[in-house]
Amino acid sequence: MKRTKIFNLYQSGVSKEKVTIKGWIRTRRDSKSFSFLEINDGSCLKNMQVIAESSLSNYFDIKKLTTGSAVSVNGRMIKSQGKGQAWEIIAKEIEIINIAPDSYPLQKKRHTDEYLRTIAHLRPRTNKYGAAFRIRSELSHAIHMFFRDRAFQYIHSPLITASDCEGAGELFQVTTVNQDNLEKKEAADHYKDFFGKTANLTVSGQLSAEMFALALGDVYTFGPTFRAENSHTRRHAAEFWMVEPEMAFCDLKGDMDLAEELIRTLTAFVIENCSDDLELFTKFVDKKLQARLENIAASDFIRIPYTEAIEILSSAGKKFEYKVKFGNDLQTEHERHLAEEHFKKPVIIYDYPEQIKPFYMKLNDDNKTVAAMDVLLPTVGEIIGGGQREERMDILLSRMEKAGLSQKNYWWYIDSRKFGSVPHSGFGLGFERLIMLVTGITNIRDVIPFPRTPGSIEF
Ligand code: 4AD
Ligand code: MG
Repeated sequence: MKRTKIFNLYQSGVSKEKVTIKGWIRTRRDSKSFSFLEINDGSCLKNMQVIAESSLSNYFDIKKLTTGSAVSVNGRMIKSQGKGQAWEIIAKEIEIINIAPDSYPLQKKRHTDEYLRTIAHLRPRTNKYGAAFRIRSELSHAIHMFFRDRAFQYIHSPLITASDCEGAGELFQVTTVNQDNLEKKEAADHYKDFFGKTANLTVSGQLSAEMFALALGDVYTFGPTFRAENSHTRRHAAEFWMVEPEMAFCDLKGDMDLAEELIRTLTAFVIENCSDDLELFTKFVDKKLQARLENIAASDFIRIPYTEAIEILSSAGKKFEYKVKFGNDLQTEHERHLAEEHFKKPVIIYDYPEQIKPFYMKLNDDNKTVAAMDVLLPTVGEIIGGGQREERMDILLSRMEKAGLSQKNYWWYIDSRKFGSVPHSGFGLGFERLIMLVTGITNIRDVIPFPRTPGSIEF
C-alpha cells in the first residue's frame, strides 16, 4: 500500500479503515499486552501513536525496536482514547525496515545546539531542527508566492561572476589552476585560467537583477551568495541565501514599502501556516517569540534617516564599544539599541553617508548621503540592505572611479545607464536571518542545513 504522510492524516481528521505510514521510531513503551510506538515521518512535528498488540506475528521483534529504527505500519486509524494525542493507529502489520543500534546519538533527551552541530547530518531528525527546516521550506514557497502575486519575474542570476557587486573584496575565487603550482608565474596568470579572467562566487545577484529589471520591470532573484568574510559572529555565514527584488520606475520610498510589506507578509504567513512548529519555538526556544512576530506583522515600521539614528545613539547615555559619529557605519550594538531598546520594533534607516555604501547607491542632492536603506529587526539586527540605484551615467562613473572599479570590467553595467536608464530600486534580504527571526534561533549555523563558516566545512 502507498504510504500516507502523517501530516495528511492529521489534516483529514477522519478515521480510516486501512492506512499505511512509514517513519522512524521516536519512542517505544510496553504495557502488558501492547507496545506503543511513537512514529515520526518528518512531514510534521506531531508523531503518530501506533498500538502494536501482542497478537502480531512478529511481536517478539517489535519489542526490540529502538529509537531511530525505521518501520512501515499498516493498520486502522481511530480517534485515540488516551490523553496527549488525537489519533492512533491500531497496527495490523508492522514491517521492520531497519533497526538502529543503541549507539544512535539522538536518544530521547535534550542535546545542546553545539553538540548537534557536530552531527549536522542527523540533527534534522530532532523536533527542533525538523521544525526549523520545515519553516525554511514553507518560507521559500511563501517568498515565491509573494512575488508572483505582485507580478515579479523570477530571475536565475549566475553564481560564478567576474564582478564584485559590494566592492568589499570578500570574494571566493573560482579557478581551475592547480594551487600547488602557485609560486610559478603561469599559475597566477588568470588569462590562462578557465574563464580567461579572474572569476569568483557571487556576493549578490543585484547587478544581474538590475539588467533584468530594466527589461522585465519587476524581478527578483533568490539563491545562494558567498562571502569570504572572516567573521565569527552568530549572524554571518560564508554561504547564505539572499532574496533580491529589483524594481524599475521605483524610488527609495517604494523600495522601503516593499521591504516592509515583504517582512510583514512573511511573518504573518508563518503565524498562520506553521503554527505547530512556531508553538515549539515559543515554548522551548524563546518565550516571547509569538508575541514579537505578532507585533511585527501588525505594526508599521519606524523610518528614520541615518543622521537621526546618530542623534538618538549619541544621546542614549550609553557607552558603546564603537564610536557613534556621522560617517561611521552602524555596528550590531547600535542596531540592537535602536530596534530592541529605543523603538522596540523594526526600524528602517535610510540616507546613509556616501562613503560607507557601495558604488551603485544613488547620490542624494546634499552630495553627502546616498538613497540607501537598511531594515533592522529586534534580536536579528540588519536583515535587509538596499536602496535606490544611481541611474545617472556621469555620477555613476565618478562613484565607480572613487571605488576603484574599472569601467572596462563593468561595461555592460554602464551600458544599462546609456540605453533607456530609469530610476530603479531594490534590496537584499538575508534568508537565514529571516529564519532566525521567525524561529527565535540565535545562531545562523542552526538555520541552514550544513553551515559554511571560517574553518568549518565538515558535511
Ligand atoms: O547589505 P548587503 O550586503 O546588500 C547587498 O548585497 C545588496 N547588493 C543587496 C541588494 O540591494 N540587492 O546584504 C543583504 C543582506 C543583509 O542585510 C543580511 O541580511 C544578509 O544579506 N547578509 C548575510 N547573511 C548571512 N551571512 C552573511 N555573511 C551576510 N552578509 C549579508
Ligand atoms: Mg548591508
